[in-house]
Amino acid sequence: MTEVIKIDPLAPDPEKIRYAASFIRDGKTVAFPTETVYGLGANAFDGEACLKIFKAKNRPADNPLIVHIASIDQLYEVASIDDSIFELSKKIWPGPITLVLKKSNKIPKEVTAGLDTVAVRMPAHPIALALIKESGLPIAAPSANLATRPSPTVAQDVIDDLDGRVDLIIDGGHTFFGIESTIVNITERPAVLLRPGPFTVEELKKLFNDIIIPDYAKGTKEAEVALAPGMKYRHYAPSTKLIIVENSEVLKRAAEILSKRYSIALLIPIEMLNDFKDYKCIVLGSYNNLYTVARDLFDSFRALDRLKVDIGLMLATPEEGIGFSIMNRARKAAGHSVVNKIEDLSRYIAI
Ligand code: TXA
Ligand code: MG
Repeated sequence: MTEVIKIDPLAPDPEKIRYAASFIRDGKTVAFPTETVYGLGANAFDGEACLKIFKAKNRPADNPLIVHIASIDQLYEVASIDDSIFELSKKIWPGPITLVLKKSNKIPKEVTAGLDTVAVRMPAHPIALALIKESGLPIAAPSANLATRPSPTVAQDVIDDLDGRVDLIIDGGHTFFGIESTIVNITERPAVLLRPGPFTVEELKKLFNDIIIPDYAKGTKEAEVALAPGMKYRHYAPSTKLIIVENSEVLKRAAEILSKRYSIALLIPIEMLNDFKDYKCIVLGSYNNLYTVARDLFDSFRALDRLKVDIGLMLATPEEGIGFSIMNRARKAAGHSVVNKIEDLSRYIAI
């Protein structure tokens, strides 16, 4: 039922793109790579087609989709914008940042879950851009995972979650950033960050004179309030119990204590492999380059499940740049189990 085709992300074959675009025009669902994560797309003007996305993912109907465009002209079709938004969009797109805007009446209620705003972005990925251009339509697409599972960064993740549930999957290799786009609501003044992502807080502060970075953007439990409709749902969760440990000394102690009673795996940067030789380790890239960590973050959560251990312990990353977004995802994946000193450990697990 589900067809899988391979397309070279660096030089997409126009013939294959035409084939995939015919699915979009026929009201079918297509999973495709973007620079952030894989999306599950359908014609954004077709409410019926978009309902298939919700069904395939088991996504609650009140969690709206992001509309993907390939040109600024298309922006005028999907949202109602003024000159300042036009200028802003030229500065940021294509890129891993989504704007929440006033919707146009061509966008059906299924896409926005009945809201009068619409989330829009222009992805910086050759396959995504070619697919949107060739279909001649904006494409509504959330991440191409089952609801509550981590977002997919390779086609195999999509196949694992959605085989038999969608019409076409484009295998375009590994996505570039590995975590979902930054979302900013600019229908309010000042603008509000709804979800941190690869477009960093530092960059946002340069772009907007005034922007609200709410506490919940850190992903801490206390601050978890439902602002973006999707934020109230459990996200990015591996099935294995995951605990974040905030420094490497505490991680050493925690590993010693827990390994007496449980099977454990550590999620640590390549720099620390030597310090944890005696344990099962999942390499989280290098903490000297947090883009390498973001790229494989969700893969590492899936890998943790494949190891079939009782507990995963992840060393927290620094929080600057994309590290802020990594920790937002990590805290949620851990269900807010965060250990700062060894005494905290027993809050989350019997020791
Ligand atoms: O990088 C990404 O954003 C990927 C790729 C495929 O573009 N998409 C993605 O979509 O991760 P996902 O699964 O996160 O779903 C869209 C998010 C949800 O959190 C939803 O609540 C929010 O966007 N959203 C959509 N429309 C919104 C609106 N009108 N107001 C506030 N939040 C909105
Ligand atoms: Mg998602």
